[in-house]
Amino acid sequence: MTRIAISGTGLYVPPDRITNVELVEAYNEYVRAHNAAHEADIDAGRMHAQLKSSDEFIYKASGIRNRHVVAKNGMLDPEIMCPRLPERPNGEIALSAEMGIAAAKQALESAGRRPQDVDGVICAASIFQRFGYDMMAGCSSATFALQSAADMVAQGHGRAILCINPEINTMHLNLRDRETHFIFGDAATACLLEPAQAADGANAWEMVSTRLKSVYSNNIRNNFGSMNRFDPETQFNDDKLITQSGRKVFKEVVPMVAEFMLEHLGQQNIAPSQLKRLWLHQANINMNRLIATKVLGHEPTRHEAPNVLEEYGNTSSAGSLVAFHEHSADLAKGDLGHLCSFGAGYTAGSIILRKLH
Ligand code: COA
Repeated sequence: MTRIAISGTGLYVPPDRITNVELVEAYNEYVRAHNAAHEADIDAGRMHAQLKSSDEFIYKASGIRNRHVVAKNGMLDPEIMCPRLPERPNGEIALSAEMGIAAAKQALESAGRRPQDVDGVICAASIFQRFGYDMMAGCSSATFALQSAADMVAQGHGRAILCINPEINTMHLNLRDRETHFIFGDAATACLLEPAQAADGANAWEMVSTRLKSVYSNNIRNNFGSMNRFDPETQFNDDKLITQSGRKVFKEVVPMVAEFMLEHLGQQNIAPSQLKRLWLHQANINMNRLIATKVLGHEPTRHEAPNVLEEYGNTSSAGSLVAFHEHSADLAKGDLGHLCSFGAGYTAGSIILRKLH
């Protein structure tokens, strides 16, 4: 069986950046105006007053301080509360493609390859703008694509396959929902997959083993209404944007993922103590701390389980790869690491990696 490697990675984040403080200021102004406009109904008990958000809560509950977004414009306007992006004609490249290409160029560069060396591209994300060879599995879209691409290369269907993850999560983020308005950021990641014996990039990692999982849950829902939120009367309705029961997700996903990772390690006869690093999905710092503690048997250091939430927020399926991209080059030849995505679906994708050089 051909051994497969991630021979290069890339990351693109849009230049616009929103701090918790800016986000909360806009949200609280929206709340003030909403409560003022419905004062009579609230006073008469026909409607609940909306509650304010806070930077302290967001950081403590999620670990997020900032997020990069495709369009700050509109998101911080209490009367608009969604990104304002100019429409692009069909002759122009889609924004998701533009982001994905920027990440893909970096991945090729780090692998020492040219575009003509690539035999196929899988675009994997939680939301799409155009058709291609697409893969969608919520927050695990990227890892599902990596397993498919690895199988393709192993079967000889292509010598090198690019997996690209343009995640424009702010398109389906409900900025008027106190429990979720802070979670998402936008980013694109890319990985080049090749036979391990050809992967000579300095930060090439052999994919020792992959496992995927999906379990039905209604606790994170996306009815993809963000493609169709043109009526101002309904544009913030639940079916137009992503919704979740955050507490249930937290309670159910933590044990599911820890068990899944430990089972996978056991099947490969790898003891958790052999792992030098965990690159976990980046949705919530407290979930990651608990999962890493269950897997490693002790509270992880930032070195053992790096967190990129503070700067990027939840970038959906790109998250674990952002952590991998930013925190893998310092490890040594032969070191083992465990990448795991998890979330909407529920889905989870587990990849055990060994540094090649
Ligand atoms: N600002 C200030 N206070 C807030 C708030 C906000 N934006 N949102 C909620 N609160 C309040 C609540 O009203 C509650 O107040 P109370 O104790 O007076 O009733 C308190 O904070 C705690 O709320 P709770 O919902 O229990 O918070 P939590 O610690 O469970 O965190 C989530 C909520 C959503 C951040 C957390 O459950 C979570 O991240 N879950 C995982 C979801 C996820 O990441 N999914 C992505 C895919 S994995």
